[in-house]
Amino acid sequence: MAEVIRTKQELRQRLGEARRAGKRIGLVPTMGALHAGHRQLIEACVADSDLTVVSIFVNPTQFGADEDFDRYPRQLEADEGLIDEAGGDIIFVPAAEEMYAEGQTAWVEEERLAEGLCGARRPGHFRGVLTVCAKLFNIVEPAVAYFGKKDYQQFRVIERMVRDLDFPLEIRGVETVRESDGLALSSRNEYLTPEQRQHALGISRALKQGRMLIQDGERSTRVVVDVVRSELLREGGLRIDYIELVDAETLEPAFPLSGRVLIAVAAFADKTRLIDNVEVECPPESDADASAG
Ligand code: PAJ
Repeated sequence: MAEVIRTKQELRQRLGEARRAGKRIGLVPTMGALHAGHRQLIEACVADSDLTVVSIFVNPTQFGADEDFDRYPRQLEADEGLIDEAGGDIIFVPAAEEMYAEGQTAWVEEERLAEGLCGARRPGHFRGVLTVCAKLFNIVEPAVAYFGKKDYQQFRVIERMVRDLDFPLEIRGVETVRESDGLALSSRNEYLTPEQRQHALGISRALKQGRMLIQDGERSTRVVVDVVRSELLREGGLRIDYIELVDAETLEPAFPLSGRVLIAVAAFADKTRLIDNVEVECPPESDADASAG
């Protein structure tokens, strides 16, 4: 059974002992409402660490005032079951007062990768994410921490923070886990009615089409965006927040398409905001010419 710890002090003490015993500590930060995507991260961590810490904290500072902080699903008991099954050792579940000192005035920001995509639509979001992750890294002092590529920008922004601020740990990215029909797993899928879920399938379908187009040699960002947009809008029920093609490393707009490209989408099904993305390697120019001819 995984051990539930609620205070920083107790966690530090417990992990200090493990560290002195030479154990390699791995961390999987989450906001709970765990699903098979989280499970993949936990299993990857368990496979490579002596002690796996899973944090569950619905982080208030990364939600905008008009976002879903209050209704975000909270289901600790079910989460504990999933973490046990996946082989996690410690579950860190701090209260908000435990994580944030009253009147906290120090924050972590990243100025480049966090600018576009979700960062542009959710002001302050990545500041909240980075600050809470910095805190978790300082509290847990893991050798390695796992992040899903479902939240691709988050993964890259965290990588950059760790590099630029010399956090002594390794960040590993894990591929997006999907339902068999393509829908990317997300805690927010719980908000969807069956009809909205059906609409939401348009997101992964549109991304797949965009990827195929690029693999077939398409180099025009605009052409790919148009195809992704028309697929997203085909069945109705989705409102597009953004469709962007960016360099997978720098997250700068990819224009024209070359190298490794990320197609990233955010769309609303009613009030539920969903994000998804695919990475695609543009074929070398000569291959593209060959397939075009
Ligand atoms: P949360 O949305 O709970 O996600 C926790 C981790 O699980 C993130 O690294 C996320 O990318 C990963 N994840 C979610 N769905 C996934 C899927 N379908 N496939 C693979 N990985 C998936 O992301 C957060 O929480 C928070 O921002 C956090 C990093 C915990 C900071 O508060």
